[in-house]
Parts: sequence; structure tokens; C-alpha cells
Amino acid sequence: MYFSDTYFHNFRNLRQGRVSWSPGFNLITGPNGAGKTNFIEGLNLISGWGPLERTTKISSVPSWEGTEDVKASLWAKASGEEDIDLFASISMKCSLKCGDKITAASAMRAKVPVMTFLSDGMSLVRGGASSRRVLLDRIGAIISPSYAMRLHDYRKILRQKTILLRKGRDVSPADRVLAPLGIWLWTAREEILRLMASSIIECGDLLACPMELVFARGGGGLAAAPSDDFRSSLAAKGRRERELRMPLIGPQRDDVKLLCNGMDASLFLSRGQSRRAAAALILAAAAVVKRKVGRKPVLIFDEITSELDDCGRSALLEALLKTGCQVFGATTDRLDYDDVSIQMMRDGRFLNTGL
Ligand SMILES: Nc1ncnc2c1ncn2[C@@H]1O[C@H](COP(=O)(O)OP(=O)(O)OP(=O)(O)O)[C@@H](O)[C@H]1O
Ligand SMILES: [Mg+2]
Repeated sequence: MYFSDTYFHNFRNLRQGRVSWSPGFNLITGPNGAGKTNFIEGLNLISGWGPLERTTKISSVPSWEGTEDVKASLWAKASGEEDIDLFASISMKCSLKCGDKITAASAMRAKVPVMTFLSDGMSLVRGGASSRRVLLDRIGAIISPSYAMRLHDYRKILRQKTILLRKGRDVSPADRVLAPLGIWLWTAREEILRLMASSIIECGDLLACPMELVFARGGGGLAAAPSDDFRSSLAAKGRRERELRMPLIGPQRDDVKLLCNGMDASLFLSRGQSRRAAAALILAAAAVVKRKVGRKPVLIFDEITSELDDCGRSALLEALLKTGCQVFGATTDRLDYDDVSIQMMRDGRFLNTGL
């Protein structure tokens, strides 16, 4: 899928107007504060992923600049595997429409799959396990409608189990509900990672050395099959859970170990190399989505050139072009590449579209 046109109204600092986009590589360039990340946030919102993490409150999205209108509205035309008009109406909350039908965010994510790589994307390699789990969950939510639902249910029961543990109560009823959900999530995440591992090989030029992706089940590792592992790990660590009064087994503690030459990638790779490795993970994720959903995801990279040398920039550019996906890259650098459509931005306006 790709966004052929967008029209954002009253959205952060962006000036109202229609912009047409290339189905290939779009590079948005402009000074600090131009509105590049805001635009990326608009795409993130309209495709069902909500505001970027920098803002927790959706109510901060409508423009605060001298307007009575407290509502922002976004429209985008998506084309490719299907032609769809997408709408988002945002005030205290965000409601989405596909054509004239109100659409749940989960359905929107599968219709127009979007993978976003933000300026802190390097945390995929250098950060804690939660950033890698977020990536697996994003892929899971796109490729399987029940993934997000099961994850939600799992977390709900896990909270109840935590309360029971804190009160020193019997947790076996909670464990009976948690086990099938946890086993399902382990199985789904392992499958996603297996597909990513086979795709990341194609990102060879981006990587300083081959990177191995190893799934580490949270608190597990006592048996090969997820079902046996979950149950035996619960039995083996139940007492410890009661002592510590916190759940120790399950997807909430999963990690993906990234290994370069058998070493932890965060120790082995330089910052620029880590950024390239993180970008390679996003590309591998995109390949999984393309394969499982049968739709090409839109790839969004904020601060796309950050910390990359000339060689890294060319490698990333080539890898992105090779995917055949639509790409939005934002940067403050003035770049000029063949095959890239440049949109200059200043003060919330796209300059070369006459807005
Ligand atoms: N609700 C809002 N209404 C109006 N302006 C806003 C709103 N929210 C944020 N802004 C402004 O939008 C401006 C642009 O922010 P944005 O993060 O998109 O810039 P950027 O082009 O990505 O810059 P950088 O290169 O520094 O990352 C900021 O100066 C901010 O004050
Ligand atoms: Mg920015």
C-alpha cells in the first residue's frame, strides 16, 4: 500500500493543504521545528497507531495556534493493493474511518500496514527488551487480528495475578487462564522472529556483520515446546514468584537476543552500526508483514540520516529502495539522490506543493 495524497487540517503546526506523494521514496527535508515529525505522526495516527510516544495525550494534537477549532482532521488516500480513503478525527480522542465506515484501529493497521522508525529507533539494538517486544507486537498486530486481543487479555490477567501475589493469595486460577494465552503469544512471537531471521539475511549491506536473532522466552527455557515450557517453568518458579510477589514467567519478560559474532550486538556495534542494524530489523519486519498480509507496508524513518556516514546512508537508501515499499524519510540534511522525491518543508508548509 502507499499514501498517494494527504490533507491534514488543524493538525499541530502543519498548514492546511493537500500534498501528493510518490509511491516510492519520499524525502522530507527542512530545518528543526519545520513539522517533519508532526507529519510522520499524522501518518502514524491515520493508520491506527495513535500519537507518537513523545505525546501521551491525544488532546495535544489539534493545533494550538490561534484557532477556536479544537479538532484536528486528517485525510489520506491510500492506494496499491486496494484504494481506500482514510479519515481521522481527533479531539479528546481519535476516531478513524475507512471510506464512510467507522473503523477500529486494529482493522486499520492491517489495511494500511505502516512500520515507523523514530529517532530513538536505535533502542531496538541498544535498549532494553521492551523495545524489541514492541516491534514483535507491532508485527503481530498487523499480521494477526487476534494477536492484539490476546495480548490485551494476557496483560489484564497478568495484572490480576500480580495483585494476588502481592496479597499472598493463591494464583492458580489466574495461571490457568494465563497459560494458554502465554503459550499462544510465545508461539506467535517465535514464528515472527523466525521469519525475521530469514529476511534479515537480505539486509547484508546494512549490517557490519551477520546478526543472529534469538528468541528468549521470559522465565522459560526448561522445555523445547512452548506449552511444556510454560507449565514446567511455572511449576519450577512458582515458589520464587510467591517470595518475590511478582510474576516471573511469560511474554512480559521475553527478549530477542541480537548476536554479532556470538557477542551481544549492543557491545559489538558502534552507534552508527547499531542504527544500521536497527534499520535492518525494521526492514526484516516489513518483509514479514509483506509475506503474511500480502500488502507492502509503508516505511517511515524519522531522522533517517542521523549518525550514518556516507556509506551507511547509501546502504540504507539502497536497502529501502530494494523493498519496493513506499518510504517516508525525514531529515534536516539537504540531500539529492536519484530515485528520491524531495519535499522541502518550513514552518509547517511543504514548499514544493504550493501550500
Ligand atoms: N498542537 C500543536 N499546535 C501547533 N504547533 C505544535 C503543536 N504541537 C507541536 N507543535 C510545534 O510543531 C513544531 C514542529 O515540530 P516537529 O517535531 O514536527 O519538528 P521537526 O521538523 O521534526 O524538527 P526536528 O528536525 O527538530 O526534529 C514544534 O516547534 C512544536 O512547537
Ligand atoms: Mg523531528
